[in-house]
Amino acid sequence: MVKLEPYHLVEADSGRAYDAETPRWCGESGALLDLAFTPRLNVAALAGRKPQLWRYRECLPVQKDESIVSLGEMCTPLLFMRLAGHPVWIKQEQLFSTGSFKDRGAAVLISKVKELAVQRVVQDSSGNAGCAIAAYCARAGVACEIFVPEKTSAQKIEQIRAYGAEIRLVRGDRSAAAQAARHAAESAYYASHCWNPFFLHGVKTFAYEVWEQLQCRAPDDVVLPAGNGTLVLGAFIGFSELLEQGLTNRMPAIHAVQTARCAPLYDAFLQGKLHPVPTTAGETMAEGIAIAEPIRGSQILAAVRQTGGRVIVVSEEEIEKYRREMALQGFYIEPTAAVAVAGTAQILNGQPPGRTLVTALTGHGLKHSHGS
Ligand SMILES: Cc1ncc(COP(=O)(O)O)c(C=O)c1O
Repeated sequence: MVKLEPYHLVEADSGRAYDAETPRWCGESGALLDLAFTPRLNVAALAGRKPQLWRYRECLPVQKDESIVSLGEMCTPLLFMRLAGHPVWIKQEQLFSTGSFKDRGAAVLISKVKELAVQRVVQDSSGNAGCAIAAYCARAGVACEIFVPEKTSAQKIEQIRAYGAEIRLVRGDRSAAAQAARHAAESAYYASHCWNPFFLHGVKTFAYEVWEQLQCRAPDDVVLPAGNGTLVLGAFIGFSELLEQGLTNRMPAIHAVQTARCAPLYDAFLQGKLHPVPTTAGETMAEGIAIAEPIRGSQILAAVRQTGGRVIVVSEEEIEKYRREMALQGFYIEPTAAVAVAGTAQILNGQPPGRTLVTALTGHGLKHSHGS
């Protein structure tokens, strides 16, 4: 049992606060919620803890150890490699149990679901978050219903089903699946990776791990794919917490990469807007980030701008090029994951040497049909 600093849910816009120990995923009038939490990491204890996500225990908003739902999630390797002729650190997030970084968020969110004694959850996903939520619900013995667009990879649908989740195939794009899930959430707890702040407080462990793996330093740049921006926001929260605790003296520049076929954040970034520019999702092989209306879009834009990062886009050709290039180096990743690698190559090309840049392979290739 660890002693956590008090925390509560808070409406992002109005500041209205709610008790975090009561099941709630949005404000009274439907507002987006954040978690107000000031963790205190027990740095001295780290050396004696296993190389697992829960080593940052005091920073994870789950009160009782008995609530923890775990699939043995390990710290993922951070490999030093060369990309487009430049040195780069690449974090192997595809090695999680369900094959993507979403396990970070699901581990903490479903542990909280267990702690809140919630029996049934609903969620919507382009596939990977659905796999992660379904797997952790299976481990926790919580019933779950996942809404996915009907064009989702057959392998991801099969994986969600295999975990025993009820799957709902929704005609239309990712927004249609989100709408259907929100409707269902009127009578169930919404374990949404986009809406639910407990998810982001699991994903933030990405930053804690990178910091530890770089000898307790923050990198200069972090380049991550962004659809709903859970990894971008998780990294932002994690590095901000490290800064607030005096464990690093700077924030990395956080860069978000989108596909040119669906780029509401990129358009807003270029136009100097605070909110995503309305768009429709075009056909793209990066199915995980074809998000036309990212619910936390203004938070993502603020995080990128505040850290001195950029939002950039990559073409389908670049995605395919870097998917193949990574495979030829032994890393089999899905196209959505190749988005970050392609974006990293762009960022590196315009940069002076000597900066420490971290990116991630966010999803495994085995659950995607590449057709080649
Ligand atoms: C493999 C992979 N990478 C990146 C992302 C992007 O995550 P987010 O939509 O939270 O930005 C996803 C989302 O599903 C994904 O599946």
